Amino acid sequence: MTTPAAAPKPKAGLEDTVATSSAICYLDGDRGVLAYCGYDIHDLAKHATFEDVCYLLWHRRLPTRAELGDLQSQFAAGRALPEGVIRAMRSLPPGDGMDALRTLTSVLAHYDADASDHSPQANYRKAVRLTAQLGTLVATMGRMAQGGAPIAPDPVLGQAANFLYMLTGERPSALATRAFDVALILHADHELNASTFAARVAAATLTDLHSTIVGAIGALKGPLHGGANAEVMKLLLDIGKDAPLERAEEAIRTKLARKEKIPGFGHRVYHTEDPRATHLRQMSKDLGQRAGQPQWFAMSQRIEALVKAEKKLNPNVDFYSASTYHVLGIAIDLFTPIFAVSRVSGWTAHVLEQYANNRLIRPRAEYIGPEYPQRYLPVEQR
Ligand SMILES: CC(C)(COP(=O)(O)OP(=O)(O)OC[C@H]1O[C@@H](n2cnc3c(N)ncnc32)[C@H](O)[C@@H]1OP(=O)(O)O)[C@@H](O)C(=O)NCCC(=O)NCCS
Repeated sequence: MTTPAAAPKPKAGLEDTVATSSAICYLDGDRGVLAYCGYDIHDLAKHATFEDVCYLLWHRRLPTRAELGDLQSQFAAGRALPEGVIRAMRSLPPGDGMDALRTLTSVLAHYDADASDHSPQANYRKAVRLTAQLGTLVATMGRMAQGGAPIAPDPVLGQAANFLYMLTGERPSALATRAFDVALILHADHELNASTFAARVAAATLTDLHSTIVGAIGALKGPLHGGANAEVMKLLLDIGKDAPLERAEEAIRTKLARKEKIPGFGHRVYHTEDPRATHLRQMSKDLGQRAGQPQWFAMSQRIEALVKAEKKLNPNVDFYSASTYHVLGIAIDLFTPIFAVSRVSGWTAHVLEQYANNRLIRPRAEYIGPEYPQRYLPVEQR
């Protein structure tokens, strides 16, 4: 009656299960270490740009000046959206940003010059182009949701500055650009998280690269994964901009008493501080002060202290990214899509790695259903 002979019991949620080999991301949940291809996230957040990180994830080494220049040119050439995608965007009813992103990423595939070419060279070109385009797509979605007309990307600006420019119509300050660039770096990859695993499972069927990313976007949308950053901001706004900090404590205690999860806390792998949260906490503080909105950081800090004391849980990447994006003037509906604007670099790196050394991913399930065999009864006897 068991499925594979002498199969071990599966761990719920595949916790601590090593499901593949990968040369992209190193994660040590006990020491709070995150490294892309050996480079510590703290060094990358301090010194790199998102473009450096994309190259690193795709090639497993940092680019030379010439290679970086090449990648920047490829991003600039690939960033514009086909007119058909803008038309499709206009035709969608107002709704969830992740739903729109999922649909429009699929639409992008129809206009991709390499759509039917599955060679490694074409797949790499698609990875670069899709990473360039997702920034434009999400910024344009945000702009059009505010009633603005799409703004063409500026070839002189990088991914981070272009995003803010196409979203707001104004050249972003150096501080806002760097903050957003660091946010992109911090979100770029995270080993075998749910959406990356979804992308790799799809890639292992040898489906096309766009399909793998559409699947990943669907997985990222969930509130247990990337959707948590939007939930954090909704919680802060519900508590209220001018509310005393005790109100934040009350709101959290009420949630905990109802056994509800606090968005932005806890992690399957980290048993200590999420190293991404260290940077985002500081960014939330600095940017909040500069924007004259220190209350979101103060409220977040109070919540962090309480959740740590009551539940021994640390904030994850989504907790302080919420207030960081909010004080940058970004609408909540774009928070999770922005996660995708960065993570597409990691997703595509994993998809290319899977294609390069592929075997269909097809695990087994432990069967726990009705006894076999059941006698089939005609419908009138049931
Ligand atoms: C990230 C997450 C899905 C990891 O889940 P997991 O490893 O499966 O852990 P579990 O959901 O099994 O939680 C283990 C215990 O911690 C508690 N817990 C975990 N995260 C919690 C949270 N954010 N708030 C309150 N309690 C939490 C659970 O209720 C559970 O308690 P119990 O053993 O008393 O039932 C989970 O921490 C979570 O749902 N966090 C909120 C959503 C979020 O921020 N997601 C973004 C992740 S980057």
